[in-house]
Amino acid sequence: MQKRIKSCTALKGEFSVAADKSISHRAVIFSALARGEGIVRNFLPAEDTLSSCACLRQLGVNIETRGDVLLVEGPGLNGLLEPAGVLDCGNSGTTMRLLTGLLSGRPFFSVLSGDQSLNQRPMKRVITPLLAMGASISGRKNSSCAPLAIQGGAMEGINYELPVASAQVKSALLLAGLSAGSQTVLTEPVQSRDHSERMLAAMGADIKVEDLTIRLIPGQELQPQEFMVPGDISSAAFFLVAGTLVPDSELMIKNVGINPSRAGIIEVLQAMGARISLDNQKTVGGEPVADILVVSSDLHAIHIDGEIIPRLIDELPVIAVAMAAAQGESKVNGAHELRVKETDRITAICSELGKMGVNINELEDGFVIQGNRDQFKGNCVDSRGDHRIAMSLAVAGLIAAGETLIEGAEAVNISFPAFWNLLERLSKA
Ligand code: S3P
Repeated sequence: MQKRIKSCTALKGEFSVAADKSISHRAVIFSALARGEGIVRNFLPAEDTLSSCACLRQLGVNIETRGDVLLVEGPGLNGLLEPAGVLDCGNSGTTMRLLTGLLSGRPFFSVLSGDQSLNQRPMKRVITPLLAMGASISGRKNSSCAPLAIQGGAMEGINYELPVASAQVKSALLLAGLSAGSQTVLTEPVQSRDHSERMLAAMGADIKVEDLTIRLIPGQELQPQEFMVPGDISSAAFFLVAGTLVPDSELMIKNVGINPSRAGIIEVLQAMGARISLDNQKTVGGEPVADILVVSSDLHAIHIDGEIIPRLIDELPVIAVAMAAAQGESKVNGAHELRVKETDRITAICSELGKMGVNINELEDGFVIQGNRDQFKGNCVDSRGDHRIAMSLAVAGLIAAGETLIEGAEAVNISFPAFWNLLERLSKA
């Protein structure tokens, strides 16, 4: 599917964005591990999270939808059943990595596979520590890629220092740790998103966090919860940048999750001169949320690197668009992880924004941009099947001279199915 974007004179409105993808995955997967009825309000009905639901159903979990509420009949950790077929994780890294951890400790055989993109993404990062816990997993390319075959069984806990800050790896090991015979202690190099720790603690798991170290003692039965999923800051990100760059804009985004382990984009845009303010801050279901107001403004350049990177990793493609419109030279370093997302996002954003006239150059671990808001020119660009690249290019198209044609626009269905309609509605307002 193609989408045509014209330059836009103003964006105005009050709205909500798609529900948080990371929290939706965890809410449905964790609910399955508690015995009894789990309720997930404002669940994200997008391709990635529906992949998690489909896999859980194959594991014998009954999941019903009532509007935006998901009812999960949790069979409990010991009640999961051997799936009769391959578990299809689609494009979803979170589904595959979390389920690999979970299923390693379950006493049956399972196979996980995904689409072409997912089956090329690195899985050694979860397999290596899981093997050390006693798992039996094999896969393609010398057990570094899916499809993965798991013969689940008895596991021991692990004391492990994660070589990369990855919430998917951390969560996979915590899920494996729930089935293990002894405690699991994980230390991250820098903090990644901490939804799993918050949610497992709320469900009654014996989990303690101290600085960058997490300790999980298995054996506590998880209690079903009523989860309330906030809006996804990674989806709000496109409107934070669009509302800043398009002149005469004023956007109020309601009920967005602002967990500090996710909210790096707000700090960066504010440091660049963006007019972003938070209102109505509260804690809902253990997660901080707020309404976010963004008003257009000029931006200046910035250099980002270090501990903030995992706190805005998914937002870097749209941050590149902001940097390209900011006055001066901006740079991102320390973001190697971007190369192993749904696509190589460093190459993708540099070449696609390059087609639009942006002066951007690839670095091994990021990019460097000579910013100037008049440099964007409409062109034919490609999402490369990556939802966040599609939406970032749409934001670039809003301030480009002429028309921008985005190929592969259907990729937004992975995390934000209403994106195109919402953008059209706000542009017309
Ligand atoms: C996610 C963690 C991050 C992020 C991804 C979702 C999660 O990946 O990029 O979109 O839900 O745990 P990594 O764990 O690979 O950093």
